[in-house]
Amino acid sequence: MKKIAVFASGNGSNFQVIAERFPLEFVFSDHRDAYVLERAKKLGVTAYAFELKEFENKAAYEHAIVELLDQHQVDLVVLAGYMKIVADTMLSRYEGRMINIHPAYLPEFPGAHGIEDAWNAGVTQSGVTVHWVDSGVDSGQIIRQERVPIFADDTLESFEERIHAMEYQLYPEVIEELLMGLESTND
Ligand code: GRF
Repeated sequence: MKKIAVFASGNGSNFQVIAERFPLEFVFSDHRDAYVLERAKKLGVTAYAFELKEFENKAAYEHAIVELLDQHQVDLVVLAGYMKIVADTMLSRYEGRMINIHPAYLPEFPGAHGIEDAWNAGVTQSGVTVHWVDSGVDSGQIIRQERVPIFADDTLESFEERIHAMEYQLYPEVIEELLMGLESTND
C-alpha cells in the first residue's frame, strides 16, 4: 500500500475530502493553530505541526519535514493549500513524488490569489490545475486541469464555491490515478 502525506496551512477542506477517500500516513501543517489540525483530530489522522520561525532557517525547517517523510516512508506528498514555497531541501529528496493543486487554469493566474486574480481580471472562465511541484511558483509539469466557468450572475463567493467543488472532484481522481501507477511500477 502506497503511503500518502498531505500538507496544508489553513482550512484544510481539500485535506478532508482526501482523508475521507484514502488512508493517510499523516497530515503536516506549518501553522500550529490551523483548522486542518482540528479536522485531522476528528478524522483520526496523525498530524504534525511546526513552524518555520521555530527553526534557524528554511533548510533546517525542511530538513525536519524530510525526516518525517523519510521516517514514514511516504510515497506521495500531496500539497493542499500548503502556502510555503518548497525549497531545495525538500525538492532534492521528494521532487517527482510531490503534487500541488492550484485554483486556476495554469499558467493563467499563478500565485497565492488564483481565484481573486481570475475574478478581478473579468475572464469568463478559470479552472483548477493539479501539477508536479518544482522550484518555481505553480510552474511544475501539469498532470490534469479542468475549466470552471464564471457566469454573469456569479459573485466572488459563488465562483469560489464552484472552484472548490472542482478541486474536491479533481484532486482525489488524480491521486487515485497516480497511486494506481505507483502500485503497478514498483512494490
Ligand atoms: C485551495 O483553493 C487550493 O487550491 C489552494 O489553497 C486552497 C486551500 O483550501 N492552494 P483548503 O485549505 O483545502 O480548504
